[in-house]
Order: sequence, then structure tokens, then C-alpha cells
Amino acid sequence: MSIPCRKAIVNNTEINVAPLETVSLRLLLQKDEGERIKLYSAARSLGFFYLDVSDSKPYLADVERLYSVTEQYFAQSEENLLKDFRMDDEFRGYKGGNNWGSLEILRDDVISSEVPLPDIIESDSATVQRFISASHEVSHVILGELSKSLWPDSEHHLEEKHHPKKRNNSSLKVYRGPTLENLADVRDNTHTDGGSLTLLYTDKWGTQVELPWNKEWAWVEAKPGHAIVTVGDTLQALTGGLLYSCRHRVSQPVGGFEERWAVTYFFRPENDTSLVPL
Ligand SMILES: [Fe+2]
Repeated sequence: MSIPCRKAIVNNTEINVAPLETVSLRLLLQKDEGERIKLYSAARSLGFFYLDVSDSKPYLADVERLYSVTEQYFAQSEENLLKDFRMDDEFRGYKGGNNWGSLEILRDDVISSEVPLPDIIESDSATVQRFISASHEVSHVILGELSKSLWPDSEHHLEEKHHPKKRNNSSLKVYRGPTLENLADVRDNTHTDGGSLTLLYTDKWGTQVELPWNKEWAWVEAKPGHAIVTVGDTLQALTGGLLYSCRHRVSQPVGGFEERWAVTYFFRPENDTSLVPL
């Protein structure tokens, strides 16, 4: 099914805006059948949708707080940041380069308290814990509603591979990735997300999706009070391709330096989950 894009103007440049469906977390929690159908349709067609979390004010306040903690964290010297770098660890610690940086914190490490948080993050560890806990719960709500649509006779459930107490690599990842002066310097980073669901909070144009029906690229608009949710390769595999993991990339619509921050929750399956249909 082909869905038309609307146009937007950013700094005198016309861009295509991806036609993302909006799903209400409040209605999902109320077990609204129409909302469940809308969620299933979005997860099957584009694999990207907005989750309206505007009713969850304390959760959004924690997202705002994390932006500010992220800013403080990346204001440190490169020498300090590199203390959080972990060689050969895909899911933990600081990674960075010229003009960008990310810090990833595993949910299991926060729960076990075995791995210390970087000092600046530790000073706001309660916010980190609340955000991880709430984002994990939100992801389970989405899994539950998708499972009802996928297997109306309860034959299977995506929870089979996402038991909250089993070890998994779900994580909070914060980014500083300023936009670049020259658009030509933006490197291609087209990918799909490997995990189950990604919840992205950001306030700027930064994500482009490849529309599956015509292979054209379209921009995802940042909307206050909404998470941009991505279906990952794991859900695509567990459902035998019924759910769609969409190719996307991080870029910018126009040249020009601007600070850009993002707060992301990567919801991942139990460790050692095989990517075969349930
Ligand atoms: Fe991604």
C-alpha cells in the first residue's frame, strides 16, 4: 500500500515528510481495539510510527531531564569521556568521534548495580532508572498488543522471547550529534535496527526512512510528546516477516551547524534469541 508524503519547507528547501501513523499509549493501555489495529497496521506497513505519550507527564519530564544530563555529560573533556570507552563492548559505554558522541547504559547493569554509572550520570541515577523502567514497560505494552493481532488464538506471544527477568541487552543510549556545516560531509549510515523496538526522543529533523512501497527517502518529523518507534529485525524475524523492519539513516535536511541531542531506548530480546519465526 502506497501512502503519499506531505511536503515541508526547511530553510527554503522542500522535503518529503514520512507518513507516520500516530498511536496513543493511553488508548493502548485502555485496550482500545481500534488503536490496536492501527498499531498492527503501522508495524506491518512502514515499521515506523509515533507513540503519543503526552499523557505521561512524569515520563516526559524524565526525557527532558535526560537531555540536560546528556548535555552536561558531553561537555566533559575528551580525556574524561574516554574513561567510559569499553573496547570490544557493543552495548556499553562511550563511543565518539569528531563532533559526535554516544553513551549506552544497559538495563541489566542498572538493575544489578554491578557496573558503576559515569559520575555525571550517577548524580541523576534515579532519572535513568525511572526512564529505563518506564520505557521497558511501554515496550511490553506494544508487544502485548501486537501479539494479540498476530495470534488472536493466543497460539504465541512475543513475550516468549522478552521475559523481563531474563538477561537481555536492552539499553538507554543518549547521543550528541550536531548537524554539520556542509551537507556533503554527512556520511551514509543506512541500516535497520537489530533489536525488537526502538523508542527515540529528539527535537530535530534527523531520521530518514526508506519508504518500502517506492524506495524513496522521507524525513521523520520530531513531535513533542511523541516517541518515534522503530520495529527492529528481531520482531521481523520472530513474526516471519509479518512485521517490517524499515531501512533508515541519520542525516540532516540542510547544511548548517546546530546542536542535536537524542535520547533512545533500545528494547532487545533475551540474550541468545534465535532469529527464527515463533
Ligand atoms: Fe536506527
